[in-house]
Amino acid sequence: MLDAKIGYKEDKLEFNENRSEIFIRLPKPHENTIITPTRESDAHALTVIMNDPKVYKTLLSPPHPFLQIHAKEFIQASKKPCDDILSSHSNDELLDSNIPIDGCPVNAIREIKEDGREIYIGQIIIQRSRCMRWMDQPDIRKQKLQENNSKPIGDPHVYHDLSMFLASSHHNRGIATAALKALMGTWYIPRSKVKNIEAGVFNGNKGSARVLEKSGWVLEEVFNLGGKGKTRSGELIETIESYYWRAARPSGTAIEVTVHNV
Ligand SMILES: CC(C)(COP(=O)(O)OP(=O)(O)OC[C@H]1O[C@@H](n2cnc3c(N)ncnc32)[C@H](O)[C@@H]1OP(=O)(O)O)[C@@H](O)C(=O)NCCC(=O)NCCS
Repeated sequence: MLDAKIGYKEDKLEFNENRSEIFIRLPKPHENTIITPTRESDAHALTVIMNDPKVYKTLLSPPHPFLQIHAKEFIQASKKPCDDILSSHSNDELLDSNIPIDGCPVNAIREIKEDGREIYIGQIIIQRSRCMRWMDQPDIRKQKLQENNSKPIGDPHVYHDLSMFLASSHHNRGIATAALKALMGTWYIPRSKVKNIEAGVFNGNKGSARVLEKSGWVLEEVFNLGGKGKTRSGELIETIESYYWRAARPSGTAIEVTVHNV
């Protein structure tokens, strides 16, 4: 169900005739920001963003230093779900809000400049859960992944997770919050029928936590890692705060936070 109170307004997906590309435009005052499929040409801007400590220090998986080869791999992985959906559905199907579609065809955030150039400024991806909490238990993780991936679209027990980042030049302008709301309201809730999404926030990353809170997500669990966790760039992960968005929970509902000492 869409939640008008916190702004998960169902909006429409648009089609850019010149590029033959679908996109979601953020509402005012961010109407010069769009979310489109990932493009191969994003690699350079991505590399710059991923070598910025204001970005990589709070992310788990980007390699550091982030080289062109890493950008190529990241772009391929981010483009694939967009390409798969775009190649298996006609434009009419994509624009028909009655047709459910697993995954999402747009995930790259771009700013449209006055001269029309579209600048890559970040990424926002919601996907079937990667079951990261079982990272150290590969057999269990494999089984959890299989279970979660085998459930049909719309099943209330399918879990998703969120990852997002934005160029630091664009932080604290409300863009990530607007992008998350637009993407969920326009696509993930009505089209992908998501019911549960988790986001892991490291070491009190206040900006990220605030985006989630402003979007109606709730802190449910805190994992104290006791010095056992590290990002790939070598940052110590002391705590992971797990925020959830759940379709079945009215926004703003308070819940007791479970603390795990790992
Ligand atoms: C997390 C991230 C995507 C947020 O993007 P953003 O566009 O800056 O987010 P928004 O502007 O929508 O909201 C940020 C909020 O956090 C607040 N905030 C930011 N830094 C803060 C701090 N140190 N202390 C308290 N609040 C803070 C901002 O004031 C704003 O809240 P407000 O609107 O109530 O004033 C961006 O900071 C980022 O890319 N960080 C690096 C990568 C990352 O951490 N990704 C998330 C992993 S879970």
